[in-house]
Amino acid sequence: MKINKICCIGAGYVGGPTMAIIAKKNPNIQVTIVDINEARIAAWNNSDVSKLPIYEPGLAEIVKETRGKNLFFSTEIDKAIDESEMIFISVNTPTKTYGIGKGMAADLKYVELCARNIAKVAKSDKIVVEKSTLPVRTAQAIKSILKNIGSDVNFNILSNPEFLAEGTAVQDLLTPDRVLIGGESDEAIDCLANIYGSWVSEDKILRTNVWSSELSKLTANAFLAQRVSSINAISELCEHTEADVNEVAKAIGMDSRIGSKFLQASVGFGGSCFQKDILNLVYIARTYGLNEVADYWEQVIILNDHQKRRFSDRLIKTLYNTVSGKKIAMLGWAFKKDTNDTRESAAIYVADHLLNEQAEVVVYDPKVSKEKIQLDLNYLNTRTQEENEQLLKSSDSPYQALKDSHAVAIMTEWDEFKTLDWNKIYNDMKKPAFIFDGRNILNKADMNKIGFEYYAIGK
Ligand code: NAD
Ligand code: UGA
Repeated sequence: MKINKICCIGAGYVGGPTMAIIAKKNPNIQVTIVDINEARIAAWNNSDVSKLPIYEPGLAEIVKETRGKNLFFSTEIDKAIDESEMIFISVNTPTKTYGIGKGMAADLKYVELCARNIAKVAKSDKIVVEKSTLPVRTAQAIKSILKNIGSDVNFNILSNPEFLAEGTAVQDLLTPDRVLIGGESDEAIDCLANIYGSWVSEDKILRTNVWSSELSKLTANAFLAQRVSSINAISELCEHTEADVNEVAKAIGMDSRIGSKFLQASVGFGGSCFQKDILNLVYIARTYGLNEVADYWEQVIILNDHQKRRFSDRLIKTLYNTVSGKKIAMLGWAFKKDTNDTRESAAIYVADHLLNEQAEVVVYDPKVSKEKIQLDLNYLNTRTQEENEQLLKSSDSPYQALKDSHAVAIMTEWDEFKTLDWNKIYNDMKKPAFIFDGRNILNKADMNKIGFEYYAIGK
């Protein structure tokens, strides 16, 4: 089948960047990204590319280059499905918040709605690509829906999980470690492999069966998150033994069998996927009665929750066991640098804990809006919206956020935090002035020299 037109359902953190790169590298293919969220599509179509709904370094330039040529953003979902030979499903698959599997299983209602829509609209053969992260054996369900609702149309289902990380999405997409395609039909796999083949070498395009592909995505995220929890577990031990977690990470990372990446101790991992995907893995393992397997992976989440909690506990304990009425400045709200995404950010949980202790929290983040910060907090349902607005403020300036504060908590490793005028900040803060560096981005000796009491992770 010759692919002239592609449709991607879901204009989010994956759909947007992934399709922008596919469009850039395949100028002869028309790529249309559709979404039910009209505001999001309008933002993708904003003539001012600095206002795209997603902040990703390098993305705005690529959208500017391709939009209106062979990349389109639209809410006309049925039309785009009808016209395309290949349809990517790139909708959200959050953890279920109701019913069976609540708090553990992936909620597949959005994926199912897409499948039903494709089945309803399609009048010609289609290749349907699972781009969303899905539980192993989901393709079976999609196949069953497409087969039973669709007319005489032939559907081929491929699993093509995405491995990009936010903040480096463009680079990750341009030079992927591998592209994974799982499927039953060699012809359909070739169609998708050819699209990637425009810029990815053949040896990096892996072909597997559908189930291996689906499970590999969950497994990759579980392994990555496990490394962060492993080094964070050691960070707590370091704090009790005068070992330095950065030195330990370097020493073990130089062992080529271990490798140096993903060993940065932190206040805990966040992001929309690590927790969700591990919970899903745990749920699947339990469904098969594999309790030891489930318990093993669940521990990665338990340790991460512990790491977030002990960060705020340590702050409170160090501030003479009370933060009530004290101003605590938080630098960063995003779950990592170079993104405006805040889903599951450690900052949300640390702030919530501090607010429970009646602290007055002021947040500065270069890319996250005041409204988003309040929404994140309200989502926890710990207190009323009014109470949250009263207790937690945001500031457009780091210096304003830090003025007269008792302590600063560094939650995100934004580069700009390293080069702030820490002398000025010290002078403007209450004394003793405390820094709790949840990302280990500052130098302890430098901060001590200025006069700060400085606490890092695992030191
Ligand atoms: P997202 O929430 O940013 O975007 C999903 C979009 O899908 C939303 O804009 C939503 O309005 C839209 N949508 C939902 N149902 C729809 C429907 N029926 N029709 C049309 N549009 C619909 O999510 P995301 O971060 O892009 O993640 C998407 C998937 O990719 C998830 O399964 C996630 O696990 C996976 N993934 C995410 C990342 C990441 O870095 N965010 C990386 C790899 C994989
Ligand atoms: C992660 C994976 O890295 C991607 O491969 C995957 O595609 C994606 O999840 C997904 O499926 O959504 P992402 O969550 O965007 O990407 O970002 P990461 O760089 O993996 O960071 C996740 C969290 O771990 C962040 O909070 C980060 O600060 C933290 N982290 C990461 C550490 O605390 N230490 C580290 O050494 C690395």
